[in-house]
Amino acid sequence: MENHTKHMQDSTMKVSSLNCIDLASNDLHHSVVSLKQACLDCGFFYVINHGINQEFMDDVFEQSKKFFALPLEEKMKVLRNEKHRGYTPVLDEILDPENQVNGDHKEGYYIGIEVPKDDPDWDKPFYGPNPWPDSDVLPRWRETMEKYHQEALRVSKDIARLLALALDLDVNYFESQEMLGKPIATMRLLHYQGISDPSKGIYACGAHSDYGMMTLLATDGVMGLQICKDKNMKPQKWEYVPPIKGAFIVNLGDMLERWSNGFFKSTLHRVLGNGQERYSIPFFVEPNHDCLVECLPTCKSESELPKYPAIKCSAYLTQRYKETHAELSIY
Ligand code: OGA
Ligand code: NI
Repeated sequence: MENHTKHMQDSTMKVSSLNCIDLASNDLHHSVVSLKQACLDCGFFYVINHGINQEFMDDVFEQSKKFFALPLEEKMKVLRNEKHRGYTPVLDEILDPENQVNGDHKEGYYIGIEVPKDDPDWDKPFYGPNPWPDSDVLPRWRETMEKYHQEALRVSKDIARLLALALDLDVNYFESQEMLGKPIATMRLLHYQGISDPSKGIYACGAHSDYGMMTLLATDGVMGLQICKDKNMKPQKWEYVPPIKGAFIVNLGDMLERWSNGFFKSTLHRVLGNGQERYSIPFFVEPNHDCLVECLPTCKSESELPKYPAIKCSAYLTQRYKETHAELSIY
């Protein structure tokens, strides 16, 4: 046991070095090569010069803190609805049931694409109305979050252009109406507390890979995120991904791994709490509900046949959500 614990500590202190993609760079070739290398290796990279200014980012984090600082009964007024939007209390979610004793030591707030009940698209499982905290309690909150959603979506589309080039596709490949022209995009405010202890099965956020196309993660600068590049290695080797001020940590999700025939990687990650409070905002990007996720034309050949059957984006996501949110009845 002592040995095991020591090993754990040694391996968890390792820090990962990831490629950094500069969206304002003039050297497109270099950006694409660097991005491709990151995607083949682990699918995690930093994105800088994305055009969202630091003051606005600080404001978004300030507003997020204000929400989580509200009394629990106020937060419960916007408890997640049947469309899976709104407040998720501490321990609500369990991402790695095999290794976790309780749920994740985090609370959250999901905000998705706002589609009112009278819209013909309302019945699509990942569209819907967002509950919003009372504007008397949190003035400007909704406006700030909606603006962030818009800006993060714009950055996602810029990254998608580079991803298309890295996959030898047309630069606009992912921008069509069937794909990111009408995407599913969900942001999630997160607030972590407490100290994690892997030897006791206590995690701020259990080990998982993201389901979708890609995730843009903004953090407040407190360490915590770790990645495991080879999930089959025993014991697993976990490396910290240190935050860089002003940068997004971007990672590819399982849907893009599948879409690219396993060529691009979606990597296992988790969050350990060190006792400091930590705030983060992942922005999960998926294409249109009806987008058919089938092996991309450049990822197959006579010797490299498609490994996965084609599946509709919404069907794939529904299946993945069910595995971690068993009690949800809407899907
Ligand atoms: C997630 C996630 C990491 C973090 O929500 O999927 O991996 O640092 N979050 O909050
Ligand atoms: Ni994740």
